[in-house]
Amino acid sequence: MTRPRCDETPAWRQLQERFRAAGAAFDLRQAFAQEAGRFDRFSQLAPHVFADLSKNLVDAPTEQLLLALARETQLEDYRAAMFAGERINNTEQRAVKHWLLRAPCNAVDPDSVAVHQTLDAMLAYAEQVRADTAITDIVNIGIGGSDLGPQMVVAALDAFRIRGKRFHFVSNVDGHELDAVLKGLKAEGTLFLVASKTFTTLETMTNARSARAWFEQQGGRDIARHFAALTTNVEAARAFGIAITFGFWDWVGGRYSLWSAIGLPIAIAIGAQGFRDLLAGAHAMDEHFRREPLERNLPVRLGLLDVWYRDFHGFTSRSIAPYHGALGRLPAYLQQLEMESNGKGVDAQGRPLPYATSPVLWGETGTNGQHAYFQMLHQGTDRVPVEFIAVRQPAHALPGHHGLLLANALAQAQALMQGKADPGGHRNFPGNRPSTFFLLESLTPASLGALVALHEHRVFTSGAVWGIDSFDQWGVELGKVLAGDLAQRLASGDTQGLDASTAGLVRRLRGG
Ligand code: F6P
Repeated sequence: MTRPRCDETPAWRQLQERFRAAGAAFDLRQAFAQEAGRFDRFSQLAPHVFADLSKNLVDAPTEQLLLALARETQLEDYRAAMFAGERINNTEQRAVKHWLLRAPCNAVDPDSVAVHQTLDAMLAYAEQVRADTAITDIVNIGIGGSDLGPQMVVAALDAFRIRGKRFHFVSNVDGHELDAVLKGLKAEGTLFLVASKTFTTLETMTNARSARAWFEQQGGRDIARHFAALTTNVEAARAFGIAITFGFWDWVGGRYSLWSAIGLPIAIAIGAQGFRDLLAGAHAMDEHFRREPLERNLPVRLGLLDVWYRDFHGFTSRSIAPYHGALGRLPAYLQQLEMESNGKGVDAQGRPLPYATSPVLWGETGTNGQHAYFQMLHQGTDRVPVEFIAVRQPAHALPGHHGLLLANALAQAQALMQGKADPGGHRNFPGNRPSTFFLLESLTPASLGALVALHEHRVFTSGAVWGIDSFDQWGVELGKVLAGDLAQRLASGDTQGLDASTAGLVRRLRGG
């Protein structure tokens, strides 16, 4: 479907005017002073997630224009096209149906039936592994979407994790990583999960081959019991010698795949019911995104704010601050989700874009970040929107800690907004620095599922307004091809035709 591009809509021009008239000089402190109901207007409860957007540089007229922008770029039609299974990933001619992985079974939809057959089989296998006390170590070998999602979720749901089993995630082709894991393992106690949508990824295949060689060297014989594959390329997994395979489909993007067979480590960690709860939480957010009017649709409001910040305020990055130690991998997960989806410089038709797309996402858990880079957030020359993620009820019983943690999250958001005057002095805090505050009641499979789906749909929204294909990732290809060539050159010493810098580095790396 061809939709009007954002910069060609009346709303875009009106937003430019609005920014000049009331956006650039917008002051949060004044906005709160002028509007008693600002907190209520700009906060809302979506499934499992409460979000306070009121400390953002936005007012009601601006939000109205952003909503008009969404309508004029036909966000609703595009959303309907995704949920209808149209091939909205147009550069790869694929449907985008990760949402189907978490929807209840629809007996008249063959894809839904296949999803639930695989899900049931995978969860039965997960329960079998959980019950197998001889298996003490689960090693997930995968990278990108085949690593970050499962790794982030297994860590986040540590309070729900089966005891007596350790989970390891090996992603990098850097042998130090696999080597360090293997050193602590015994072949008879280990289950390797080779997770790769394509089953061709250099890092994963290299690690899988080394793991298999190690297993055989250790005297391990029963590969069928100690290796399973999670892939859309079941044939390649069989050719590799893996008998137990769980498949998925080309309409699941790698960074959207934790809900598929790629989620097996999660299912082993938290059990079949826990995994179903994770899916149910995400499904509740899918329904919210699909059905709520745009003005009360949390992913839509967030995605539009992202466009406002990137294209009108010109903010180049966003900092993620989870105030929960178990969410330590969330910034890395969101980084792939947003930057691989929306880090594009051409529109879906291939035309170069005259406006900016994905910001840089980065972050660290609180309060750690406060003692590292928050200095820059409070007093640096750039304004960086910050996203706090807090959880009301802790999963531990240590007295005192949680109140201090939550107070710190609140204090940082407050300090960023309010600032503190010390004219001309080093203690001056300019304030008026925007933040969003997400609050979960507790960190459970369901609330985490909803939080992740919220971000998926938020990225969908900004990508839709920008008119890009959020579901391809051609930008990763060139480096892969060049690495293949350079691996040969490092072995042979042939530097012919290389640029002088790369040639010089090849010689040094060869010890020349
Ligand atoms: O290199 C990028 C990428 O294709 C990601 O999109 C993907 O999540 C990752 O590599 C891993 O791919 P695969 O699951 O096919 O091994």
